[in-house]
Amino acid sequence: MEQTELRPGTRAAVRPVTGRQRAARAARNGGEPTLEFAERVPYDAYVQASTLHRLQQPLSDDPGEMSFLMVSQIMELYFGLTCHELRDAARLLRGDRVWEALAPLRRAALHLEGLNAAWRGLRWMTPADFNRFRNLLGEGSGFQSAMYRHLEFQLGLRDPALIRPFRRQTEVHAELTAALDTPSVWDEVLALLARHGHELPADLLERDVAVEHEPHPAVEAAWVRIYADSGPDNHLRMLGEALTEVAEQFGDWRHHHIKAVQRTMGAKVGSGGSAGLAWLQRSMARVVFPELWSARTAM
Ligand code: HEM
Repeated sequence: MEQTELRPGTRAAVRPVTGRQRAARAARNGGEPTLEFAERVPYDAYVQASTLHRLQQPLSDDPGEMSFLMVSQIMELYFGLTCHELRDAARLLRGDRVWEALAPLRRAALHLEGLNAAWRGLRWMTPADFNRFRNLLGEGSGFQSAMYRHLEFQLGLRDPALIRPFRRQTEVHAELTAALDTPSVWDEVLALLARHGHELPADLLERDVAVEHEPHPAVEAAWVRIYADSGPDNHLRMLGEALTEVAEQFGDWRHHHIKAVQRTMGAKVGSGGSAGLAWLQRSMARVVFPELWSARTAM
């Protein structure tokens, strides 16, 4: 069986063992788990669970605030994990490795599904429940999530104004600026389609990637052609479907968010200074991978 090597430059958090050593230990233990360790348990050394569980600092003793805080943290982790997969997918697409890019895209869609399930942890919250601790959050809002912006940027939703809140956090700001200057997954897809012989205008392929892509009829036509071949070797069609799944799951997150907002604060203004619901509805109107949706009318 193929074994992955330890990442170069990485110190093993736990001591690696072979299958044979594992079997010998289980035999020595008589089938029971190991209970004695010289240092901290290897699980904690790898997962850093004790650090993770120290990262919750609720502002009140309100019994519901902890779920609001932890659901937000869980979602942050999922934003980061999805970004990780999309970065890998973009890298593989840049190298014309379409088949291999399907795996990280599938993982991204599944992580987004997990992210969406996390909304259930907030369904109990009525306006009265939220109001009990809402003021304590001050101007804090998910709108200021840098990782969510990374996710949007990778999906091709690019509004450079939205990195302004991070001007005083040099490192975060620099990372977001770099992300804006890096082609999105959709930019990589368009370049790939052009390399596969689909005629796309040069100004589309050479545009400033920091600016949001405008839907284009040539891209739509390319997808109509790609989807016309339903054969098993048509990897571009599989790519189209994998991307559609990612876009749909991301759309579901936005939809669930709006529902959570309606449920817990109606149309009140947002903590982040926006009009709240109306602002979110405008933000949601921006479509991820737009031509993959519009092309379906012509199929
Ligand atoms: C019931 C709970 C929630 C309410 C009432 C709520 C409310 C809002 C509001 C009103 C906005 C608009 C900006 C503003 O604050 O003025 C917003 C934006 C946002 N919120 Fe929430 N939120 C909730 C839960 C969450 C959670 C758990 C997350 C996960 C981290 C989150 C992430 C975001 C993000 C990423 C945005 C920016 C969306 C965009 O740019 O389109 N929110 N939220």
